[in-house]
Parts: sequence; structure tokens; C-alpha cells
Amino acid sequence: MNILGIETSCDETSVAIVTDGREIRANIIASQADLHARYGGVVPEVASRKHVERMLPVAQDALDAAGMRYSDIDAIAVTNRPGLLGALLVGVSYAKALAYALHLPIIGIHHLEGHVYSNFLAAPDLACSFPLLVLIVSGGHTQIVRMDGHGQYALLGRTRDDAAGEAFDKSARLLNLPYPGGPNVARLAEQGNSARVAFPRALLGDSMDFSFSGLKTSVRTFVGKDAGQTSLPDIAASLQAAIIDVLTLKMRRAARQTGIRTLCAAGGVASNLSLTASLQAMAEEEGCRLVIPDPVLCTDNAAMIAVAGYYRLLTNPSDALSFDTLATSPM
Ligand code: KG4
Ligand code: ZN
Repeated sequence: MNILGIETSCDETSVAIVTDGREIRANIIASQADLHARYGGVVPEVASRKHVERMLPVAQDALDAAGMRYSDIDAIAVTNRPGLLGALLVGVSYAKALAYALHLPIIGIHHLEGHVYSNFLAAPDLACSFPLLVLIVSGGHTQIVRMDGHGQYALLGRTRDDAAGEAFDKSARLLNLPYPGGPNVARLAEQGNSARVAFPRALLGDSMDFSFSGLKTSVRTFVGKDAGQTSLPDIAASLQAAIIDVLTLKMRRAARQTGIRTLCAAGGVASNLSLTASLQAMAEEEGCRLVIPDPVLCTDNAAMIAVAGYYRLLTNPSDALSFDTLATSPM
């Protein structure tokens, strides 16, 4: 079954074609990062307009890359929540038009569920390995989710304030690094000493929740007072270590408390190689298996949306064409 996935929830226009939930035939990602960099963050109206411009060409590129025509597509999966409303509307309107014209089933996918399913591209056998523990770390969300089957999620922990990606991005701004902050902090951190600055780690008792706003405040205070003595790579490495330590500790705690032995990670921050290494070391110590998608499948892409759509269609009917586009909604 060939699913055409569409993702336009933020600043990437992406169209993918995935066969049987595992074989990526095309995954075109047109990033708008350069466009938004001059504003220091995503400007919603600019993002919507760019999606309108790029939607059809990106879809055609995906079909060309896969060597397919619209008639080869069996179903459409599209991110319909949460995200920038105007940006989501572009992808959803296009998806609905396609489904209507081609008489195809359509499925609206929660963006975070898409991130979860990027793991099934990395390891299709996960479908036989439930329950899973998934660390979702994106620009707007940080969660530990227990997945007991397709579409069956229990939220074990979440951030009480900023997301991990936000902690990277907001701290990067304080350090005058360009947008997007996460990859720029990661690049600088490669040459830095992570033990140089003792930024705080919020552990919150034995909870699986997260809190990163104190870290941001600490970076702000540090930049105002002591930063002159410390190299930028050292600050970046110390900041990155503070975030990674907490993410790793909470996943270790979740694995111990639940007894679940298969761990996954997803979302833009999971493309951070130091986080991957830290989670891998923890998983080995705990005797767990760790799955993390390739970096390009961790950040926003439509292949993960197509995979989520595939597994939804295996067990559920498709959506009515009247389904909504929502800026925010729980998973
Ligand atoms: O999943 P994603 O692409 O978009 C959202 O759904 O939000 O995640 C974007 C987030 C941003 O905060 C970005 O700074 C962060 O992922 N990010 C990284 C890295 N690459 C992207 N954070 C740390 N290290 C990276 N290498
Ligand atoms: Zn995302």
C-alpha cells in the first residue's frame, strides 16, 4: 500500500511516499529555516505563504523521486494537529482536495504520533515489540509516552514549562546564536568542555515530568554576569549536557519504573548525537534495546506521517473529509 504523507505544521513543507509502512520511496523536505532565521524564529504568516508556494512542487518532486503518478497512491495521510494553524491548513486543504479528486481514503495525523512512528521506519519489527517507551523531544513538546499497541498511548511524563527543543532554542538566542538554536548549540558543543559551567538539572523528585525554564533563567543570569570568562563552546557544551542529563535520567527512571525494555526516541532534539550516545549508554547499562531514527527522520518530515497513516488504516476506518485542523490538542 502506497501512502502519500503530507507535513506542513511548522516551517518544513514535506511530502513523502511510503510503501507498506516501511519502505520510503520519496521523502522531500523543503525547509524554510533560512527564511525565518532573520527574524530569530518562525513567523507564522510567512510560513503559511511559503507552504502555499511550495506545496504542489514538493508533491510533484515526491512523485518524480518515487517514479510514481497520483494513480499509484492508495491513501493520503496529513498532519492536522497541533501546529501553526495557517501552516496546517495548507497541507490539510491540499490533502482533502487530493482525496476528493482521486477518491482516496484520508487520515488526519497528530504530529507527535507521526514522530513516534518514525521509529517504525528505523525498526519495522517494533510492531511486534509492544509495550514501548518513547521519549518525544521536539521544539514544542517533551514527553515520555508508553505505547501499548498501535494508537494506544499513555502519557507518563511531560514538561511542566519549556520543551527540550525550546530550552536549546531560547538559550541559543541568549547566546546570540542564529536560529534554529538546537543544531547551532550542538555544533559549538562539539569543541567545548561540558563540565565547565554547572547549569541546573531539575529532577522533580521521582516524577517523570520535566522542567527546563530554570535552565533558561540560569543561562540568562550567566550571560549577564560570568560569560566573559567562559568560551562559547564551553557554555554550549555545558548547556547541552544539562538538557541531555535530565532526558537520560528520566528515561532510565521510566524504564525502571515500568519494566519496559524497548526504548525509542523521536523529535528534532533526538537528532542530537550526544543525546543519542547518552541514551545508548544508559540503555546498555539497563539491559534495554534502544531505537532512534536517522537524524533526518527525527526532525519534521512527511515519511513519519505516512507511516502513522499506514498503521492507522490497518486497524481503523479513514476520516471523513470534514475533519478539523487544530492548533493544539492532546495526543
Ligand atoms: O521535531 P522538530 O523538527 O519540530 C517540532 O515538532 O518542533 O523539532 C525541532 C526542535 C528545535 O527546537 C530544534 O532546535 C531542535 O529540534 N533540534 C536540535 C537539533 N536539531 C534540531 N536540538 C538539539 N540538537 C540538535 N542537533
Ligand atoms: Zn516535529
